[in-house]
Amino acid sequence: MSLSVIILAAGKGTRMHSARPKVLQSLAGKPLLSYVLDSTQKLGVDSPIVVYGFGADKLKEAYGDHSIVWAKQSEQLGTGHAVQMALPYLPKTGKSVILYGDVPLIGSDTLQRLIDTNTSGIAILTMDIDNPTGLGRIVRHDGKVKCIVEEKDASLDQKTITEINSGIYCVDNALLHNYLPKLRNNNAQGEYYLTDLIAFAVEDGLPIATISPTHSFEIEGVNDRTQLARLERSYQAHLITTLQKQGVQFTDPARADIRGDVQCGRDVLIDVNCILHDVVIGDNVTIEAGAIIKNTTIGTGTHILPYCVIDGSTIGAQVTIGPFAHLRTQTILQDGSKIGNFVETKKSTIGTGSKVNHLSYIGDSTVGAGVNIGAGVITCNYDGVNKFATTIGDGAFVGSNASLVAPVVIGKGATIGAGSVITDDVPKDTLALGRARQSAINNWKRPKK
Ligand code: UD1
Ligand code: CA
Repeated sequence: MSLSVIILAAGKGTRMHSARPKVLQSLAGKPLLSYVLDSTQKLGVDSPIVVYGFGADKLKEAYGDHSIVWAKQSEQLGTGHAVQMALPYLPKTGKSVILYGDVPLIGSDTLQRLIDTNTSGIAILTMDIDNPTGLGRIVRHDGKVKCIVEEKDASLDQKTITEINSGIYCVDNALLHNYLPKLRNNNAQGEYYLTDLIAFAVEDGLPIATISPTHSFEIEGVNDRTQLARLERSYQAHLITTLQKQGVQFTDPARADIRGDVQCGRDVLIDVNCILHDVVIGDNVTIEAGAIIKNTTIGTGTHILPYCVIDGSTIGAQVTIGPFAHLRTQTILQDGSKIGNFVETKKSTIGTGSKVNHLSYIGDSTVGAGVNIGAGVITCNYDGVNKFATTIGDGAFVGSNASLVAPVVIGKGATIGAGSVITDDVPKDTLALGRARQSAINNWKRPKK
């Protein structure tokens, strides 16, 4: 059976008050539409049909590298009309799953259950909720689905129904081709309702199946920024509970944010106000308050002290970082190394057991094992046009406030005197001094006022 996916995303998103199309607003660090596309891909569908209306440039810019079939809906005449726009691209046979670009958290496992609900008609994702106001209601007779009625068209009796239509369906393509052209807009909103499909199918004696999502947030839509923030909170709670079940301790689950793909080992401690975005964390790692960590791998037993900003780094085991350290992209910290406060690193490797404890900038550098870099050491890697490399051999000792003017090589076991400006390579086991000699003027008289 061939499976297609139709994603409706033509709504303008007026209530967002944004220059961006609604489906490009971000949830947990990722655009809404990306979640739906990811779920689609997990179903094994590589080229979904996306029905769009506004912001074509921005959408195609954001998803230029995806194989999406774009179907334009110039006027938003209703959900039924939107799916009509997809018909020219839809195979005559097989099934389609209908999704929404602004209902981001629909899970592929729920969708798989919907698809597997064996019916030659229509399967609908529905749910019993406490406050169904505004949503389409599932009307049943003797337990069997008869139709879906929109809030604005519902009788008082029908308004008391608590089973709502999520708007997500799995439908035979043949039915879509057959019924969609028959939709009429003679209803309270003057719209072409996709939901009228159900009544058509029932009339033809076709079976209608329903299933419910695993989590209620899976069918929550986003129309304004309040709803977006609310969905963010419920999704965060879910992500954090999942990590807790894997052995992660959050000091306060309400004060941590998980974005993208975060994987943690056991006995990881995450203190308050941390943001973790696409991070892989080993066992026994402690991350203290205020860390912002992105695109990074952290080895076993590493300890990150408060207020560190880390991006694109590879951190080994038993490393200590911070407080207040800034690790920029392509930083590699090997096992047992130590980065102290107010240290910035970029595109640099710090070898096993080496220490950069205070107030340094290490850029475009390769630092060997067992190196000690004193307070305030700077690798001068940039001449205003080009970047140059610094290499520091195993066991070297760089005195405080030295400036290492790249390109430069400091040999193994070399010592650099404090305050030196090093412009030439230093051979191994050598002491290099590059500073003015101290002079003294006796009985110096300070000027008087
Ligand atoms: C629809 C369902 C309702 C269901 C609800 C769940 C119909 C008639 N009603 O309500 O039963 O409970 O979803 O949220 O289907 N869209 C387009 N083009 C259009 C109209 C809508 O692409 O012309 C897209 C919107 O961008 C949005 C989605 O379809 O992503 C749903 O539209 P919305 O207006 O929010 O849903 P309703 O029609 O109110
Ligand atoms: Ca809606």
